[in-house]
Amino acid sequence: MSSPAMEQTRDYTEIIEILDRYERDPSRIIPILQDIQSLFRFLPEDVMIFVAKEMKISSAKVFGISTFYNHFSLVPKGKYEIKVCNGTACHVKGSGKLIERFLATLDLPDGEITTPDGVFSFETVACLGACGLAPAVIINEDVYGQVTPGKVVKLHDEIKVKEAGHE
Ligand code: FES
Repeated sequence: MSSPAMEQTRDYTEIIEILDRYERDPSRIIPILQDIQSLFRFLPEDVMIFVAKEMKISSAKVFGISTFYNHFSLVPKGKYEIKVCNGTACHVKGSGKLIERFLATLDLPDGEITTPDGVFSFETVACLGACGLAPAVIINEDVYGQVTPGKVVKLHDEIKVKEAGHE
């Protein structure tokens, strides 16, 4: 959640551009929130309050929509969103070991889903619809099948190397 100091210093220019693009039309609130989420990788509380005010709709409505759709997140997500399938087929094929390995590798602080450096977020999901690939993992748009605990470490290390190259 944003601190008051962050809220005071936030530049709302890009949010205003998004609102203008959709002509502040309340029927287009979902694409508006999608664009805002693309900007921040989540929906910050102060931004939702700002959006409600600008669109002249209640903030309860904006919060209601953002909590109703799984697609939206109210907490910061990592640049790489890791989703481990824990549906039946993946569970049978050992997704539990992948979850353990990811948790150990990412070393997430208690109760957090995102690493402090903002690089990774982690969650388990129900069937991804790719049971033939069980156990399956999605990282952003990429699907990985027959993932092993060793592959978990490899994927993690590859991303770390890639990110280090961007610094
Ligand atoms: S149970 Fe994992 S993809 Fe279906």
